[in-house]
Amino acid sequence: MILVKTASEMKNITKKWKNEGFQIGLVPTMGYLHEGHRSLIRKASDENDRVVVSIFVNPIQFGKNEDLKSYPRDIDHDIAVCKEAGVDAIFHPETSEMYADGFCTYVDMTDLTEALCGKSRPGHFRGVCTVVNKLFNIVNPDKAYFGQKDAQQLAVIKRMVRDLNMDVEIVGCPTVREADGLAKSSRNAYLNEKERKAALVLYRSLLMAKDLLDGGERDSRIIIEAITDHINKEPLAKIDYVEIVDAVSLKKVDRIADDILVAIAVFIGKTRLIDNMIYEI
Ligand code: PAF
Repeated sequence: MILVKTASEMKNITKKWKNEGFQIGLVPTMGYLHEGHRSLIRKASDENDRVVVSIFVNPIQFGKNEDLKSYPRDIDHDIAVCKEAGVDAIFHPETSEMYADGFCTYVDMTDLTEALCGKSRPGHFRGVCTVVNKLFNIVNPDKAYFGQKDAQQLAVIKRMVRDLNMDVEIVGCPTVREADGLAKSSRNAYLNEKERKAALVLYRSLLMAKDLLDGGERDSRIIIEAITDHINKEPLAKIDYVEIVDAVSLKKVDRIADDILVAIAVFIGKTRLIDNMIYEI
């Protein structure tokens, strides 16, 4: 496995692989790899000849008061995980390598980025789209793998690839959960014991929504109210948003007639967690 620090070296390696006829899969990450990342790497290994994992905590997708400084990092652990998973190259650039002095070009998506997390994290998706675009240009992958846990991110990246005619297939992979249902996330590392227990309220409220939908409920307002009431009963939880949107356009849905995304963002103490469920009608 090669550890690559510069864009030019990464480009040379993937160019050589392409010339040799290899298909390349990219798993973009911010590191602190967990079972969710492992499942993306496994899928990328199954479907490609060469796998690149990028590890880069992207400063431009964090807001001023967000957790850029404290975001968990453990590159030695990440290298070990990648080695064990049979990854061919890790791309782990410094911030100055990705954003040279005078950097001023961004990918700025409208519409799809204005809902859900885009509302409470202005500028977040501009940072995500910009860095993912750069990673695609550097690695030139045939396929790139993203988790369904970040449902809006997945939808946004698919749309960017379509809108900008990019030559990469985006593969969405199911959310990986802890045994008790909490979605795996690097940010779970922030939770103390009490908060870890309280965080279960996210998954439980999604299960509650599923029960209502299975029972035939089609009024979004009633489902949102049920989720909200359930979360509000947990003293450590503070809702950022609870929304039911169209699974593709991410537009709010009042009367459910098509596939939907039930998406929630909740602060558990100071930690903001997200989770979601796609419900197929
Ligand atoms: O999902 C993430 O970890 C990040 O948003 C991504 C896609 C690696 C871009 O920095």
